[in-house]
Amino acid sequence: MSDRKILVTSALPYANGPIHLGHLVEYIQTDIWVRFQKQRGNACYFVCADDTHGTPIMLKADSLGIPPEELIVQVGKDHLADFTEFGVAFDNYHSTHSEENKTFSSLIYTRLRDAGHISSRTITQAFDPVKNMFLPDRFIKGDCPKCGAKEQYGDGCEVCGATYSPTELKNAVSAISGEKPIEKDSVHYFFNLADFTQMLTDWTRAGHLQPEVKNKLAEWLDGGLQQWDISRDAPYFGFEIPDAPGKYFYVWLDAPIGYMASFKNLCDKKALNFDEFWAKDSTTELYHFIGKDIIYFHALFWPAMLNGSNFRTPSAIFAHGFLTVNGEKMSKSRGTFITARTYLDHLNPEYLRYYFAAKLSAGVDDIDLNFDDFTQRVNSDLVGKVVNIASRCSGFINKRFANTLSANCSETELFKEFIAANETIANFFEAREFGKAMREIMALADKANQYIDEKKPWIIAKQEGQESELHEVCSTSLNLFRLLAAYLKPVLPALTTEAESFLNIESQTWPTIDTLPLTHHQVNDFKPLLTRVEADKITAIVEASKDNLEKTASTVKAEPIKEKQFEPIADTIDFNDFAKLDLRIAKILKADNIEGSDKLLNLTVDIGDETRTIFAGIKSAYAPEDLEGKLTLVIANLAPRKMRFGTSEGMVLAAGPGDKEIFILSPDTGATAGMRVK
Ligand code: 2FM
Ligand code: ZN
Repeated sequence: MSDRKILVTSALPYANGPIHLGHLVEYIQTDIWVRFQKQRGNACYFVCADDTHGTPIMLKADSLGIPPEELIVQVGKDHLADFTEFGVAFDNYHSTHSEENKTFSSLIYTRLRDAGHISSRTITQAFDPVKNMFLPDRFIKGDCPKCGAKEQYGDGCEVCGATYSPTELKNAVSAISGEKPIEKDSVHYFFNLADFTQMLTDWTRAGHLQPEVKNKLAEWLDGGLQQWDISRDAPYFGFEIPDAPGKYFYVWLDAPIGYMASFKNLCDKKALNFDEFWAKDSTTELYHFIGKDIIYFHALFWPAMLNGSNFRTPSAIFAHGFLTVNGEKMSKSRGTFITARTYLDHLNPEYLRYYFAAKLSAGVDDIDLNFDDFTQRVNSDLVGKVVNIASRCSGFINKRFANTLSANCSETELFKEFIAANETIANFFEAREFGKAMREIMALADKANQYIDEKKPWIIAKQEGQESELHEVCSTSLNLFRLLAAYLKPVLPALTTEAESFLNIESQTWPTIDTLPLTHHQVNDFKPLLTRVEADKITAIVEASKDNLEKTASTVKAEPIKEKQFEPIADTIDFNDFAKLDLRIAKILKADNIEGSDKLLNLTVDIGDETRTIFAGIKSAYAPEDLEGKLTLVIANLAPRKMRFGTSEGMVLAAGPGDKEIFILSPDTGATAGMRVK
């Protein structure tokens, strides 16, 4: 059908903890997309690997009294078993602790170094004098400098939300030995990300990113790109940096290279052409599915690393939101921090695949798993609508027609309508609008059920001389069921495979205008395809997840993500926080374009007692000449912020959805510059 060649990845899960439902949003999303591509006839490869390096994995192995190599093999097996049972069908699942990854990490690093993109300098860090190792921020504990809460990590307070550097913690101790950390110097290696400012500015504008991600990137680029610390000192579980004994690549350097390594491993097994996918002039497609918390790594560091080492850059990065359960962050105490294994112990994985599909869109919004909604949707859509079509009609075909479909499909118009929907549904899948695809498919399922309701085969069956009508109604219905199974195949691989074996057909390709109904066709005996979700199963999952408290409590993300990310907006701030804002009317004295920025304008504003420079992301809505002399509202006591084009000394308040609709100007009510607003 098509000759697209596509390489797809999901983010590599850390080898220090189990897969949970939060992870599965991404793997299921990617798997659905990949299965769809394959069903359409494209050559599509889905690779992944365990992300095995870093301090937490090293320490976890240490605490278990085993070498990290042993830990990562076991965790890798567990991860793959979970994915496989959820129907996530990788073409290859590898490890970042592999020969291929070592080779590519060294190659990319040396190419970057030889091109002048690596520098080194001495930095001072907290050091555990007992364990003889430098301490990542997450491994320093103490009292929050802001609210005094005890036992807070070095990078931020979980009680008051303050972020700070570990040196500000009061009574700081190493979380590993309990000893007071000392400060120690060490040479670190840095990737000069700023060398790629122009390349990244162009790349991020060239259609590789979702609109909301592109906007975020424009802000980060305007804020200026910093050097990225890519080395860690021994002891560290990872790859030693070439020509730098005792220095190791930071886990985030070799993690994305793990995508290449896993694909190389597949190429060697399947005799595929690696260069065709990764050479600078590649015409194949490369997509990374990721969570929105790791955009900085994938949309800045990774394209820069690839570009600087003469490889192709990704065709697109597809970011998704986080999973909440019953409207809240997953919580161990509420029993909503659910591992893949706990779910599998109680419920059919395809329920969750369908539910996630029904909730997923192409955006970065969080998705919520609400147990009542989950139960209702699965029971009503899958059991009540889709499977019901087959169970309502198969009995007659079996008992009255020896499992043979009629010679005609009487409702050709209805069959054609189902076929005609193929393009719309395909477009939704292609665009990752799975929720819309599911709604379209369920609308078809409703039509099939309406048809059965109108024809009432259970009544026809009792009437004399209506054999052929009964035969055609039931055969038509099973033909409609077959098309629904084809459309749902990327989402429900197991259910649709069973449907295919009931219908006695080959694995279905994507329906096209040329797809004909099955006539005079022998089917098999029908067996129930799916049972309803029962409330007690969900209760059991929640209870078992409460038991998981001990088992998962020690699981932390392998490295804190200090790089910028999509920050969730706080639900509320307290009045004291609000009272601290110095909100003032300001007069715009001057407004200028900024060369190299397509978002920002440079405003010179009079705030009453002084004149300030403020960079405002309002260029899409205002021409500089429209602004001069006008009044606006500013936060006057925001700490100055260093950006790529200079320092911004405050913030202009704006309302509106963005683009042309950004409103910053206060009506001319006689206010004067410097007037306080609260
Ligand atoms: O955030 C994480 O869970 C990382 N292990 C993802 C790595 S993705 C890629 F870069 F390897
Ligand atoms: Zn605090």
